[in-house]
Amino acid sequence: MELVLSLLLLLLSRTSGALPGHFWHLTDLHLDPNYTVSSDPLQVCPSAGSQPVLNAGKWGDYLCDSPWILINSSVYAMKNILPDPDFILWTGDDTPHVADEKLGEDAVLSIIEKLTTLIKEVFPDTKVYSALGNHDFHPKNQIPAANNSIYRKIAQLWDPWLNVESIAPFERGAFYSEHLVNKTQGGRVIVLNTNLYYKNNNQTTNMEDPGGQFKWLEDELASAATKGEKVYIVGHIPPGMFEKKRGTPWFQEHFNKRYLDIIQKHHGIIAAQFFGHHHTDTFRMIYNTAGSPISALFIAPGVTPWKTTLPGVQNGANNPGIRVFDYDRNTLQVKDMVTYYLNLTYSNKDAPRWEKEYRLTEAFKVPDGSTKSMQMVLDKIATDKCYLQKYYEYNSVSYDLVDCDKNCRADHVCAIREVDFTTYESCIIQESSSVSLAMQMPFRLSVDMLLYISIAYVIFFL
Ligand SMILES: *[C@@H]1O[C@H](CO)[C@@H](O)[C@H](O)[C@H]1NC(C)=O
Ligand SMILES: *[C@@H]1O[C@H](CO)[C@@H](O)[C@H](O)[C@H]1NC(C)=O
Ligand SMILES: *[C@@H]1O[C@H](CO)[C@@H](O)[C@H](O)[C@H]1NC(C)=O
Ligand SMILES: *[C@@H]1O[C@H](CO)[C@@H](O)[C@H](O)[C@H]1NC(C)=O
Ligand SMILES: *[C@@H]1O[C@H](CO)[C@@H](O)[C@H](O)[C@H]1NC(C)=O
Ligand SMILES: *[C@@H]1O[C@H](CO)[C@@H](O)[C@H](O)[C@H]1NC(C)=O
Ligand SMILES: [Zn+2]
Ligand SMILES: [Zn+2]
Repeated sequence: MELVLSLLLLLLSRTSGALPGHFWHLTDLHLDPNYTVSSDPLQVCPSAGSQPVLNAGKWGDYLCDSPWILINSSVYAMKNILPDPDFILWTGDDTPHVADEKLGEDAVLSIIEKLTTLIKEVFPDTKVYSALGNHDFHPKNQIPAANNSIYRKIAQLWDPWLNVESIAPFERGAFYSEHLVNKTQGGRVIVLNTNLYYKNNNQTTNMEDPGGQFKWLEDELASAATKGEKVYIVGHIPPGMFEKKRGTPWFQEHFNKRYLDIIQKHHGIIAAQFFGHHHTDTFRMIYNTAGSPISALFIAPGVTPWKTTLPGVQNGANNPGIRVFDYDRNTLQVKDMVTYYLNLTYSNKDAPRWEKEYRLTEAFKVPDGSTKSMQMVLDKIATDKCYLQKYYEYNSVSYDLVDCDKNCRADHVCAIREVDFTTYESCIIQESSSVSLAMQMPFRLSVDMLLYISIAYVIFFL
């Protein structure tokens, strides 16, 4: 039976001309260099602030950023699971959540260097597309829109990964665009510095187009289109809203709008988008003005288990996660996604263990990770309580297993579906006022859903 299935799959991939490849997405490592397993609950980790850390374990604690051995273990786990990926996406945030005074420029740079060295040692021959996070600067979040010494030093650290042509743009704005390595036909990776759009970044508040990145992005996409290339967009802070706290955007509103406009204009060549920053596992859908899905944006879970101190977030920690994407080297279409995780509680009690958490196509019963399939995933989450709960547990990398109630559902479904701030607000109003899950209609019914509903209707009622 299995043989028949594999043959069938092989045949399918042959006939569609798919050329399967794999890559890693790694994000939000947040090393806390001072983590120690201390019996004094106030001495375990500076990243817990004034919270006491009881029974801290060797591999880390949900109140703390990552100890070194956790980060080391995650990168070696990658090597064990998939030793020869086509490339690695590394989307930033290396330093601990502590006051700027406890870090300083030298400490920030030495942490970035330490993590860079580790990844280089474990994957010496692998191309890494590395994006700057809002914690990869001193002072944090205050990411400038121009050439500065930190960008120059990071460009030096990442020099072995960057094409020579990427060094100058990196020094000027920490963003760059490269032809995707070798293995693909016409692929391009555009690495953005979306920290320039962060509302906590006072350096760019009154700017229209910080660092000229929007204009540059449009030019890059236009030129990729003329060359017949497909594009991955990679960055740290994603557009849209935080799904774990109602009404929490990251970008300033005008930046969010401009970003969406660009995606709507150029979606035809954008194969997928990859971001971090949330530490949670989620995704975003972008639509055209007619309401059809045109782009999916994948947000990968972080390695740090750190429980966010953002006021209003309930129990916002996560298990450490790492992620493999299966993709088609010809079209860059996402074929599948497998998330691996370390159960921190188990690891501290017993032994460190990285295990598969879930595979997208298995867990959500969709054919692949295309935009169309991700819309199907959203439709399932929005209409089926079981899929919603499954998604919710994966959202914290199987850390928070409580029931996702009606409010929780509205927060997640609206954040996934509405990257625009205004339509997000109306979605929240609409979803919060509906009577029961069974009565709620999804805001957008995809063609597939309609088809399934009609088939079900035919089967059961005719
Ligand atoms: C890093 O992980 C590897 C593989 O498990 C192990 O051999 C090595 O000792 C670890 N290094 C540290 C500093 O934990
Ligand atoms: C780590 O400890 C050293 C020595 O006490 C201190 O100078 C430094 O600020 C601490 N770093 C962090 C990130 O808390
Ligand atoms: C950035 O500034 C430094 C120092 O002024 C200069 O040497 C370097 O060429 C600049 N880089 C770019 C890309 O303009
Ligand atoms: C690029 O392709 C050539 C020919 O297939 C191969 O020999 C080489 O190893 C590839 N380089 C990389 C970085 O994948
Ligand atoms: C940024 O600006 C806001 C509003 O003016 C101010 O409250 C905040 O302290 C500033 N932050 C930094 C890091 O300068
Ligand atoms: C993680 O490990 C703990 C301790 O062994 C266990 O109780 C818990 O069920 C595990 N979580 C998951 C999601 O497997
Ligand atoms: Zn982070
Ligand atoms: Zn971040």
